[in-house]
Amino acid sequence: MNTIYTNTYNIYIDDDFSTPFQALLSTKNYSGIFVLVDDNTKEHCLPLLEKLLGNFEKTIITIRPGEENKTLETCDYIWSFFIDNKTDRHALLINLGGGVIGDMGGFSAATYKRGIDFLQMPTTLLAQVDASVGGKLGVNFQGIKNSIGIFHDPIAVFVYPDFIKTLEERELKSGFAEVIKHGLLGADSTWKIITKTDFKNLNFNSIIFDSIQYKNKIVQEDPRESGKRKVLNLGHTIGHALESLSHKTDTPMLHGEAIVIGLVCEGFISYRLLDFKKEDLDILCNLIFNIYKKEDLSKYGTENLLKKMGQDKKNREQKINFTLLRELGQPVWDQEVTVELIEESLVFYKNY
Ligand code: GLY
Repeated sequence: MNTIYTNTYNIYIDDDFSTPFQALLSTKNYSGIFVLVDDNTKEHCLPLLEKLLGNFEKTIITIRPGEENKTLETCDYIWSFFIDNKTDRHALLINLGGGVIGDMGGFSAATYKRGIDFLQMPTTLLAQVDASVGGKLGVNFQGIKNSIGIFHDPIAVFVYPDFIKTLEERELKSGFAEVIKHGLLGADSTWKIITKTDFKNLNFNSIIFDSIQYKNKIVQEDPRESGKRKVLNLGHTIGHALESLSHKTDTPMLHGEAIVIGLVCEGFISYRLLDFKKEDLDILCNLIFNIYKKEDLSKYGTENLLKKMGQDKKNREQKINFTLLRELGQPVWDQEVTVELIEESLVFYKNY
């Protein structure tokens, strides 16, 4: 069993974590166990959880999948479900799904009657290596991603790496964007592996473990993102803006699809502003363009993109803040970048 310890909860990574899982439920003696799923995880992942639960009774809450349903309306549905089932403060919510289920289920649990326990059981690569670790919870609001939310830790995270075998390739690649990000930021062994091995031949079990370990290290140093944790926003200033704008079109991008564009552009800005090595920028671009198709960004319009970046919750005093790289493994945060250089980075992406 690979276990990563945080100050408040454990992250178990294995293909069989029945022992700590059952031990946790037995110790806590919950008044009720609820499982939040969407149509996909209900079909592909719930059977495994049912086996783990054994004789523990559970009630399933099913919601519609997708980022467009990560809203207060869906929280309303979950809270109403709790009320209708006379749920008290001693219940448990198990979030079985990707980032949407984890963030929104966690938010709903942490705010219901001032908080019931929840545990994260991430089923996508994105949720396993990123969303389920670090206690960020929330929903999208008025078209702005995760603009309503809180920090609150789960009681545990159980990562079953083989769940990613249930994913479509597009979803897997989306999650891989965060693995690339962690590699650039300082997960050295991950970076070495992913830049030398063809995507199709990767051993995801070790990549998932390394990536979670890296993210957890950062989060433990700065749980509330007052400094160091901001490094995790690499690729996200431009990436989030693109993602939000794409959701107003008929070709919405998945999170990681937008983040890899952000990584290329912000890698270029790092090269121009901080002397990030051109050869590392080329390695990054080759890695990304070998896996992801190039997007036509002209449909979003630079003005709209800059406006969206201006609404980012990472900003302070109306300034758009970036995390950039001085070199591989040497990120710096709160970097101001001119509009001209942002525009230049988009041209770099287009022409690479
Ligand atoms: N996904 C970035 C963070 O958790 O801080």
